[in-house]
Amino acid sequence: MQNGSQTEQPIPVTAELQYDGRTVTLPRIDPSMGDHGIGISRLRSETGMVSYDPGLANTASCRSAITYLDGENGVLMHHGYAIEDLAQHCVFLEVALLLITGTLPNREERSQFTRLMNKNSMLHEGMIQFFDNYPENSHPMAILSAMVVSLSSFYPEIAGPISEVPLDETVTNLLSKMRTIAAFSYKKSIGEPFVYPSHKLRYCENFLNMMFSSPVADYQIDPVVETTLNRFLILHADHEQNASTTVVRGVGSSGTNLYASIAAGISSLWGTLHGGANQAVIEMLEDIRNSGKRVKQIVEQAKDRSNPFRLMGFGHRVYKTYDPRARIAKQSCRELLDHLGIGRDPLLDIAVELEEAALADDYFLEKKLYPNVDFYTGITYRAMGIPTNMFTVMFALGRLPGWIAHWLEMRNDPEQRIVRPRQIYVGQKPRAFVPVQERG
Ligand code: SDX
Repeated sequence: MQNGSQTEQPIPVTAELQYDGRTVTLPRIDPSMGDHGIGISRLRSETGMVSYDPGLANTASCRSAITYLDGENGVLMHHGYAIEDLAQHCVFLEVALLLITGTLPNREERSQFTRLMNKNSMLHEGMIQFFDNYPENSHPMAILSAMVVSLSSFYPEIAGPISEVPLDETVTNLLSKMRTIAAFSYKKSIGEPFVYPSHKLRYCENFLNMMFSSPVADYQIDPVVETTLNRFLILHADHEQNASTTVVRGVGSSGTNLYASIAAGISSLWGTLHGGANQAVIEMLEDIRNSGKRVKQIVEQAKDRSNPFRLMGFGHRVYKTYDPRARIAKQSCRELLDHLGIGRDPLLDIAVELEEAALADDYFLEKKLYPNVDFYTGITYRAMGIPTNMFTVMFALGRLPGWIAHWLEMRNDPEQRIVRPRQIYVGQKPRAFVPVQERG
């Protein structure tokens, strides 16, 4: 079975599985690009066996038209548009609409979407009181997940079946309010009053204003910061069937509403192996800076299989070359630091030295471990004044349109059913019950 590479000879339309003297013919599933698949829906009924693929590294859970990844060549496209073009020429809301509708919006569509985003940017005052009861040191990801699932209580009329309400109301309600919740959780953490969204500001301007404006200081939005933030949200907007997107699809497959499905995705993203890595990268770089550890020492530590330490921001399940998003993030990081007059950022220097040391080391080259999207994003957010514990919230804000697009695609896919995998049971065989008085 070819892996989707172009070949002159016609490739077989089926695969044959031979086992225990029997042959099972399985259909080939054809892509528009990339890997072909083998359909195993009949595997158990015809062989009595199930497939086994921990982490689902070799298993396609769906057919999807939203994002294409080529991990060997570092290619990332959304509905056919290269991430490099989108990051260079679009604002985040354009890419959000592209992911959800499949087309880049025209001027009228953009204006209509912006109007709805403004209309839906406020939080119900009843929700705002929730913030009073969170401890000051609450992690903003905990607040975000809880507040997003609560949207379905405060806005039940649009948390229902998507078919009953205009899609753009539900989508803009979520996209706009999640941005407000994120900014409010930051203000809560520093004990400052909330700054409400303004209908006069664009998506990223509004976020920056809600984050950094205050009654006692005039806050001027730096256009380069706004452009960089747009670009970073675009870099995070979607990434095919990653862990949190798989969770959103899985939770939605049981009929759960969009808000509760997204809240589950936020929780999955929080993990340090996934979106939480951007916070872990900065903590790792600060530890290197504060401890005086040598970069070489850190690289050796990451290679030591007996040591649970891993080089955060390095490695990827799909990319076996440089993550194209990391390349863009690294360049934008440098441009922003230069623009802000930060010049030499010791953490950026350490990150670059770490990258050079790792990419000169056979362990990383043989295992094809390169910087991923999380390696340079934290340094950039830090330069914008965003605190470390908000980095994964920034990832969630970027990923939200991708989650929504996948949830809708799953709901509209006639092949999709409730997610319910099988298992290989390795537990106890049947045994007689022992009454409590006879137990040792
Ligand atoms: C994201 O899926 C997506 O698309 C995710 C994402 C998205 O946009 O949604 O791209 C966002 O989550 C990026 C990844 C952020 N996480 C990190 O930076 C954490 C550090 N990286 C790793 O923990 C790891 O690389 C993963 C989790 C990203 C990928 O894990 P895999 O695919 O399960 O790979 P693995 O753990 O089986 O590792 C393969 C080998 C192992 O060695 P051996 O057992 O073969 O001897 O590579 C080693 C690992 O020990 N390895 C690392 C390493 N990552 C893998 N060794 C040192 N440092 C690392 N970072």
